[in-house]
Amino acid sequence: MPPSKGSRRPPPRRRGGLGPWLLFAAGLVVVGAIAAIAFSGSGGSGPPELRTGPQIYQSQCATCHGRSGQGGIGPSLVGVAQRFPNIEDQIAVVTNGRAAMPAFSARLASRQIRTVVEYERSHFVG
Ligand code: HEC
Repeated sequence: MPPSKGSRRPPPRRRGGLGPWLLFAAGLVVVGAIAAIAFSGSGGSGPPELRTGPQIYQSQCATCHGRSGQGGIGPSLVGVAQRFPNIEDQIAVVTNGRAAMPAFSARLASRQIRTVVEYERSHFVG
């Protein structure tokens, strides 16, 4: 008499076999989300949105010199190019500061300082 097939036991179910993988996947999602949050704020070196003369001027200089260079806390910049015939002298004032004029060497890249100085010289003409 052949052995009854019904006596063969089904392979044991591997309970919880997926559990560690699900945990691992969930962990990856959490780590990814944290990384996304952490990196979303950093845009590399310096404020990347400050590229053009108007952008830099309005965000860094207008509070003291007025939105159209008319002056306020700081002196009017109208006709500034005549007071600084050499652009390098004006760049030096912005870079190193002078009296109540703050130095921008730590806040702006030298390229940004040159950009905003060129903007002042070409837009605030007397
Ligand atoms: C906290 C206020 C303040 C901010 C912000 C500021 N300035 Fe000034 N700035 C002054 C003051 C005050 C003076 C006058 C300095 C002096 O008496 O020697 C001045 C002077 C200057 C001068 C010389 C003007 C002249 O005719 O002699 C230039 C050029 C100038 N600022 C450019 C800038 C630029 C460009 C920025 C932005 C990147 C800027 N300033 C931001 C206050 C400010």
